[in-house]
Amino acid sequence: MTSNLKNQFILDPNLIFLNHGSFGACPKSVMENLRSWQNRMEKEPVQFFESDIFKLLESSRKALGNFVGCEGDDLVFYPNPTHAVNAVARSLNLKIGDEVLGTNHIYGALDYTWKQVCKNMGAKFIKAELPLLIKSKAEFLDLFFSYVSDKTRVIFISHITSMTAMIFPVEDIIQSAKEKDILTIIDGAHVPGHLPLNITELDPDIYTGACHKWMCAPKGTSFLYVRKNMQNDIMPPVISWGWEGELSKTSLFLNRHEWQGTRDMTPFLVVPEAIKFLNENNWQERSKLNRKLVISARNQFLEFFNVEPICPDDWLGQMATIELPIENPLEFKQSLLEKYNIQIPIISWENFTGLRYSVHFYNSEDDLNKLIAAVKELLH
Ligand SMILES: Cc1ncc(COP(=O)(O)O)c(C=O)c1O
Repeated sequence: MTSNLKNQFILDPNLIFLNHGSFGACPKSVMENLRSWQNRMEKEPVQFFESDIFKLLESSRKALGNFVGCEGDDLVFYPNPTHAVNAVARSLNLKIGDEVLGTNHIYGALDYTWKQVCKNMGAKFIKAELPLLIKSKAEFLDLFFSYVSDKTRVIFISHITSMTAMIFPVEDIIQSAKEKDILTIIDGAHVPGHLPLNITELDPDIYTGACHKWMCAPKGTSFLYVRKNMQNDIMPPVISWGWEGELSKTSLFLNRHEWQGTRDMTPFLVVPEAIKFLNENNWQERSKLNRKLVISARNQFLEFFNVEPICPDDWLGQMATIELPIENPLEFKQSLLEKYNIQIPIISWENFTGLRYSVHFYNSEDDLNKLIAAVKELLH
């Protein structure tokens, strides 16, 4: 049995941390690497910003491209997926009556983004209502595509959903969308470092992922991938140096997106160190073991509550959401923290209240056993 890596993380050793999904958590080595980049920046800021930064970003992009299966020049760093999706959504030339198709499992902040952008452009944001108790991929895809019309221009979908923690069949969605000439924008916030990812094979038009979640990179490290033939159509949120291509990088896309005014870009430079940490600790093997823990805990919860699973086992990775029969989510979350030292999110989504637990490098079966025991005790 592989031991967990809790002592390699900065996390409070007394805390049972089952919420990697919200903001991630960093290993000590990753934070040391961040501090060393920041020291280098502060030692000679002019050298750092005027001479070094673009080369350093390039090697970080290459390492990330290698990890997520695309060319390093086809992605740019962004602080978070919300920034990245905002840049993309506002760049689309939607016409009056065009439709953007999302789902009711969309991340809340991006629901706001699409609603507002569509309103501004006179387009419609349609959300496919995908109920819980998903039984099969075929049923899911039939229902999702029943919302496509001859006005659908864009599909925006989570690869792993935030509230319900499900892995959606984005491969099939991208394939069918291509046949229908619909643009695909995939929200992979939870995917890098969680599932093996090869963007080139998936072949979406646009993909965003967070490095600060499951890759354990410093907060504010995410990326935006754009297929080559669309790169000149996507505008950065800030128009700055590079706009006319004068920074002489390999593409207008990189020229326009990499310099967004003076800002701290050192978290982006830590990505190779985060990848080293993942690889040195056999992340793919650990991920499989963690998934087993997730499913075994889910089975115990399902038996205790005597309820149906909201999706099949193979729709889960290292996170799961379990329905909770409680009236006061905030109070329940506080009790778990104050009485049992368990940090975990309680989800309120549509009419559903649930507990979403995440399992990563620093967790053990014991953490989940303590969670199950605490939930049972609080509900009795
Ligand atoms: C599915 C999904 N998309 C996007 C995000 C974006 O996160 P942020 O608010 O950091 O941009 C999250 C964050 O948890 C998420 O779960």
